[in-house]
Amino acid sequence: MPRYAHIVGWGKYVPDKILTNNDLAELVDTSDEWILARTGISERRVAGPKESTFTMALRAAQEALKVANIDPQGVDLIIVSTATPDYSFPATACLVQDALGATRAGAFDLEAGCAGFVYALSIASQMIATGAYEHILVIGAETLSRVLDWTDRATCVLFGDGAGAFLLQASDVPGGVLSFVLGADGSGGQLLMIPAGGSRQPASPDTVSRRQHYVQMRGREVFRFASRVMSKATREALRAAKLTTDDIDLFIPHQANLRIILSAAKELRIPMERVFVNVEKYGNTSAASIPIAFCEAIEQERLKAGDHLVLVGFGAGLTWAAAVVKWQPPPPAPPPPRRGRLWRWLRYRWARLVSRLRRLRRRVIFWWSRIRREEPSEW
Ligand code: ACO
Repeated sequence: MPRYAHIVGWGKYVPDKILTNNDLAELVDTSDEWILARTGISERRVAGPKESTFTMALRAAQEALKVANIDPQGVDLIIVSTATPDYSFPATACLVQDALGATRAGAFDLEAGCAGFVYALSIASQMIATGAYEHILVIGAETLSRVLDWTDRATCVLFGDGAGAFLLQASDVPGGVLSFVLGADGSGGQLLMIPAGGSRQPASPDTVSRRQHYVQMRGREVFRFASRVMSKATREALRAAKLTTDDIDLFIPHQANLRIILSAAKELRIPMERVFVNVEKYGNTSAASIPIAFCEAIEQERLKAGDHLVLVGFGAGLTWAAAVVKWQPPPPAPPPPRRGRLWRWLRYRWARLVSRLRRLRRRVIFWWSRIRREEPSEW
């Protein structure tokens, strides 16, 4: 019997701190008028000192689990799509796995720029379709404010921080993720990159002084690529699902620039009332933008059972990805009883305690083996 991957949980997290265009005009030579006219962005969120990709991913994941009413122990796999992980390694997904107490889950990060969330969604849907897994958490999370050059007006006005998550569940009811298209053109990699900090150019006083740890972008060329690829990927994904643009009930594009979204909608001949836009509030949150937009579409009651959605992104790499989803919402969950909230709170406290105990145990085993001059047998 075929298996389908349905979105049964969703959650988002954005930092409280708002940075408006006028705030930016005090940092660099720009204006609210220029940013709004060229990008459609009015403001964006910026992570506070205690926030990072991990903390935001965790909040979005907890929200998605709450909506789905699934215990972290029921999660089989966690994929975090991010270009701004907390560390090169360990993967941010492992930090999320530990903090959730999702002890049965595998976890890995996926980097495909702003197209990463749809890449992760397609992998997760296939793992469910093959019968390998039942529940997969797919998260897009970014702290781009930490890799922006706040003296470069051509990039710092564009991006923001945030996270969004889906919980996918296996079902034999037709629907969920119907099709996807993934693409890449590495010849355009240099159009959008952070040149240093990897193995090619490790961090050094020289790379720091040349500001090579910040996002560098050739905006006009990325713009041209994005306008072209959004409609192409959408058409291919629709064809794979045996649908046409007329079947799209809601188009949820990557929120990078309103002009790119308008141009894709025009090219696809989708009226703007069937296009979801929130770029004005958050700017480009890269891999987080599509799940954040999806959550807001639900909050605004823009989705009905049976609707066909297209999620489409493009980004550094260069990469692009589109997915067609048939929306079959889970039956409305009853409001969580007080006991449920308390249980969840205790669950995450318990996960934190267990994590600390595991670390302590590892240290004790290590020192004990040193005292006994033995190879540590268990880590
Ligand atoms: N404020 C005022 N003027 C500015 C600013 C600014 N913030 N930034 C650039 N300008 C100036 C430029 O210096 C230029 O001046 P000049 O003509 O004297 O040289 C002028 O405005 C026009 O610059 P353009 O680059 O041609 O402006 P454009 O209309 O292309 O808009 C933008 C620039 C917004 C960056 C656009 O090219 C764009 O959105 N590109 C795509 C970016 C994108 O989506 N990137 C994310 C990819 S996804 C991912 O994975 C992260």
